[in-house]
Amino acid sequence: MLVKTIALDGPAASGKSTVGQLLAQELGFLFFDTGIMYRAVTLAALEAEVPIDDETACTRLAEETHIDVRPPTTDDGRTNDILINGADKTWQIRTPEVDANVSEVSTYPGVRAALTQKQREIGQRGEVVMVGRDIGTVVMPDAPLKIFLDASAEERARRRYQERLDRGEPADYEEVLSIVRQRDQIDSTRDVAPLRPAEDARIIDSESISAEDVFRIILKFAQEKGIA
Ligand code: DC
Repeated sequence: MLVKTIALDGPAASGKSTVGQLLAQELGFLFFDTGIMYRAVTLAALEAEVPIDDETACTRLAEETHIDVRPPTTDDGRTNDILINGADKTWQIRTPEVDANVSEVSTYPGVRAALTQKQREIGQRGEVVMVGRDIGTVVMPDAPLKIFLDASAEERARRRYQERLDRGEPADYEEVLSIVRQRDQIDSTRDVAPLRPAEDARIIDSESISAEDVFRIILKFAQEKGIA
């Protein structure tokens, strides 16, 4: 039986979430942003004052932290409520401090093993648009449609910078760009599940096309594959 999963991978701020949400809405699928889980573990470590370089403690947090994604209960621009051990942490997982530490936490094999297992359980139910870095290569290697969405670091930093301004938060473009570059470097050079397109992924460069156009391109692929 065809497990209708769309694997959508790519670097930070490549537009995966926007496009993934449009696809999920159109197809009536679940939208599942796996980056949330790595962010939740990072936030849990920061809040518990666990040193980020303590791999064993971070792995324990990945195994024990309860992460839940629910429909939004507040009208403040959020698409979901993100609950960590029952507390609403929707915006706390998006702070520059989490941005600056999440890539390191996601290099730890124990953290990845714990989170990958939870992600597969959800992916195997089907009718999911799953967004991340290693969905096509590791989490759901049998996904019938794999997309790798790319754009330059400058363009991606500009998008993230604008998102912060839109939320009324202070932002510095050069700082955002430097964190994007640093995260690209860590995400693509780590030993376990590095950021890279699966061999059978379709690569889309979103540099100068709108999220709406990327959505339409992927929808066409999904129709060709019998997913839509
Ligand atoms: O997509 P994002 O920016 O929210 O992801 C946050 C971090 O989580 C990113 O720097 C790398 C990591 N990540 C990962 O290693 N594997 C995934 N499937 C998703 C995210």
